[in-house]
Amino acid sequence: MSPKESASLSATVPVPEYLQKTYWWAYVHPNAVRVFERQWLVNLILWGNFARLRDAALQELGEVVSGKVLQVACVYGNFTEYVVKRLGPQGHLDVIDVAPVQIKNLHAKLKDTRQVTVQRQDSTDLQFEDASRDAVVVFFLLHEQPVEVRHKTIAEALRVTKPGGKIIFVDYHRPVALSPWRYIMVPILTTLEPFAMDMWRGEIANWLPSGIEVAKIEKQTYFGGLYQKVVITR
Ligand SMILES: C[S@@+](CC[C@H](N)C(=O)[O-])C[C@H]1O[C@@H](n2cnc3c(N)ncnc32)[C@H](O)[C@@H]1O
Repeated sequence: MSPKESASLSATVPVPEYLQKTYWWAYVHPNAVRVFERQWLVNLILWGNFARLRDAALQELGEVVSGKVLQVACVYGNFTEYVVKRLGPQGHLDVIDVAPVQIKNLHAKLKDTRQVTVQRQDSTDLQFEDASRDAVVVFFLLHEQPVEVRHKTIAEALRVTKPGGKIIFVDYHRPVALSPWRYIMVPILTTLEPFAMDMWRGEIANWLPSGIEVAKIEKQTYFGGLYQKVVITR
């Protein structure tokens, strides 16, 4: 896509209603970035697990990334910088996000953008060719999306991934019965993140579009089951 095409596309991508209504304070309002763009805060929100979960996702990309990686949605903290650090000479990272302030914030965070393309796109309508990416990372996005949006995001992530490539999801998950987080997190998630409990009730593997073959699905949980990584190999 040429820079001109990309600019005109950005102008036509609306911020989805659920993001405006539910998450304006976290991602859409310019003050959101001022409040949340702090490493210690995003780590606190994940109860000290940010680095562990970031590294669990990165591990799937390998020590040196030589292919094309797509990060679906910006992440507060140093997630994207760590992906960039792994890019080999042939590696490339695309990051998309639907919120203009998030795009601006990512540009400000990234020091070296020679191997990175940041674009305003919606995760439900990715502007990439079928089977064009070696790996796709979706870090803590699914729990923020209503069910029908989540299904489309997953379908799009699979569509753009090459056969043999990985789609890496990291997100919330239902904690084990004895975990105190099973009780502590319910009021927090139900108050602030109305779609998040879906991650406790359902499995990402069950939300894949019908008619798409995948080679492998692997799931690992962390922190007493409160978090999960699901890796789908196409
Ligand atoms: C990845 S999620 C949450 C990440 C994590 N909680 C953090 O600390 O940033 C947040 C991002 O998803 C973006 N987002 C939400 N819905 C989207 C959509 N439909 N398409 C693209 N980006 C979306 C928001 O604008 C926001 O930047």
